[in-house]
Amino acid sequence: MRVMASNKILVTGSNGQLGNELKELSSAYPQFKFVFFSREKLPLNDLAAVEKVFQEYEPAFLINCAAYTAVDKAESEKEQANEINGNAVGFLATRCKQFGTKLIHISTDYVFNGNATCPLKESDPVDPVNAYGASKLLGEQLALQNNSDTIIIRTSWVYSFYGKNFVKTMIRLMNEKESINVVSDQIGSPTYAADLAEAIMQIVSSDKWQGGIYNFSNEGVISWFDFANEINHLIGSSCIVNSVTTMQFPTPAKRPKYSVLDKTKITQTFLIQPKNWRESLKVCINKLDAEL
Ligand SMILES: NC(=O)c1ccc[n+]([C@@H]2O[C@H](COP(=O)([O-])OP(=O)(O)OC[C@H]3O[C@@H](n4cnc5c(N)ncnc54)[C@H](OP(=O)(O)O)[C@@H]3O)[C@@H](O)[C@H]2O)c1
Repeated sequence: MRVMASNKILVTGSNGQLGNELKELSSAYPQFKFVFFSREKLPLNDLAAVEKVFQEYEPAFLINCAAYTAVDKAESEKEQANEINGNAVGFLATRCKQFGTKLIHISTDYVFNGNATCPLKESDPVDPVNAYGASKLLGEQLALQNNSDTIIIRTSWVYSFYGKNFVKTMIRLMNEKESINVVSDQIGSPTYAADLAEAIMQIVSSDKWQGGIYNFSNEGVISWFDFANEINHLIGSSCIVNSVTTMQFPTPAKRPKYSVLDKTKITQTFLIQPKNWRESLKVCINKLDAEL
């Protein structure tokens, strides 16, 4: 293994929600040189291109924000999901080990089956209920198997000013419709991607690097229905939000009923204090509002 003297942070999947938030945050960290790679510039499944990037940049850190994130589509595209979320991550981890690059990889609450009734710890048994979750679990396993120094952050219900997400879809529907139906029997915690980006940079800039799995989301335990109601309230919409069950709202991929993540480990290890979900949602909605 080589020892890195570089201050380069390579970010893959930079056109997604998290990638864009890291781009925005990068100016607050002038001690690092960020290099952002969109899918177009660096498709993770092109192993030769990935290899070349390592040779050329010899990064100190790699933050992997690239992923196959189409949860329902993954049911019929298991191979593609496994290739990007699984095998490509395993390859990144191997190369990171070889080049002395510290890897931060992002995973999901969907590695759990949803039968828990209290917040899930990093060490709780995994059992994904859909193909996306299985592909992300494969990525976790290959990353840690190939490079035990990898930091994996499991997160949930990610939204942002950027990209497609629940918050933006709700705002559009609330502006278009008199009433909407939202499921109230799936319980979790939302994550503002800007907060996740900050947590990542707190880890990168700390001297406490310790490989393994860490949970991160905003604080709070809610249903999608609660989330939609708060969005409705914050945008001052008169749309009626009806509570429905998962049975009434079938999707190709099954979702875990309960996937609240316990964040004790990330708080204790890196002194990261996740913000409350309402506070962060307000920040995102104000930003979206200012843009209109
Ligand atoms: N979104 C959520 O609710 C959620 C929940 C839990 C965990 N996560 C995890 O959090 C991480 C960040 O998610 P996000 O919400 O920022 O996702 P996102 O907005 O969907 O961004 C993912 C990015 O990956 C890129 N990508 C897809 N296939 C690629 C490939 N073969 N090579 C290189 N790049 C590729 C996409 O490119 P295009 O822009 O061209 O599509 C996109 O820009 C992911 O690991 C995701 O699994 C997300």
